[in-house]
Order: sequence, then C-alpha cells, then structure tokens
Amino acid sequence: MKILIVNGPNLNLLGQREPGIYGSESFEGYLQTLRQRYPDVEIDYYQSNIEGELINKLQEAGFIQQPAVDGIVLNAGAYTHTSIALHDCIRSLKSPVIEVHISNVHQREEFRHHSMISAVCRGVICGFGLDSYRLAVEALL
Ligand code: DQA
Repeated sequence: MKILIVNGPNLNLLGQREPGIYGSESFEGYLQTLRQRYPDVEIDYYQSNIEGELINKLQEAGFIQQPAVDGIVLNAGAYTHTSIALHDCIRSLKSPVIEVHISNVHQREEFRHHSMISAVCRGVICGFGLDSYRLAVEALL
C-alpha cells in the first residue's frame, strides 16, 4: 500500500505559522510519527507553494504512472478555495483523493467555507489538527 501526502501553499511553515490555529508541531516531525504508526504503508510526502507544481505531482502520482500510488491525502491550503485547475486535475486521477484541513474551515472566515475540490474528492476531513492526516490515511486503508 502506497500513499502520497501532498501539502499546498504555506504548509511548509507548519509549527511556526499561526500556531494558535495550526499547532506548534512541524510537518516533518508529525510525518515521522505517522510512518511509525503505519509501518506497512509506504507514505510519500510532497509540498509546494506553487499551484502548477501541485498539479504536476498529482498527475504523476495518480494518473500518468497508471497510477503510482493507491491513494492521495491532499491539503491544498488556500488553493482549496480558488483552484479550478486542481478540481480538473483531481477529477481525472485514477487514485482516490482525500481532502484534508488541519483547522475547521467552517468555523473560520466565510471565504474558507467553499471548497473547489470537495466535489471531486472521495471525502473530506477537517478540524482535527494534524490528526486530520491520520484519519485520512485510515480512510484510505
Ligand atoms: C487549511 C485551511 C485553509 O483555509 C488555509 O488557507 C490553509 C490551511 C487547513 O489545513 O486548515 O492554508 O487548508
């Protein structure tokens, strides 16, 4: 079983960025814990601040290589709320994609309430802190 976790813009700053909302743990530290918890699952990780790079990675993992991974956990950050390009990409992938958010976006500003990608993802998990990623891995398993 191979899973790819993809983090979008500003999520490279986890642990330092708005810790009151996103917590004080770095994603690299969390990833170690996650990999230890699922020793039989190969968990790859990719982060980019650039929309087109996220699309290239998703296509490579979920489509072009027919597909290279069994499932994708995607936190698209703010592109969640804006990106028709990500929507189009996800709907053409062969691998299932789980949309995740660390914060409960529905408790926050109204512009975060709409997702351009939820309708083309297998499911959505939000509001459980970094544990949202583990719950998404569980869902894929
Ligand atoms: C986020 C929520 C988004 O609205 C925000 O732009 C992010 C992080 C989350 O994980 O809670 O960058 O996706």
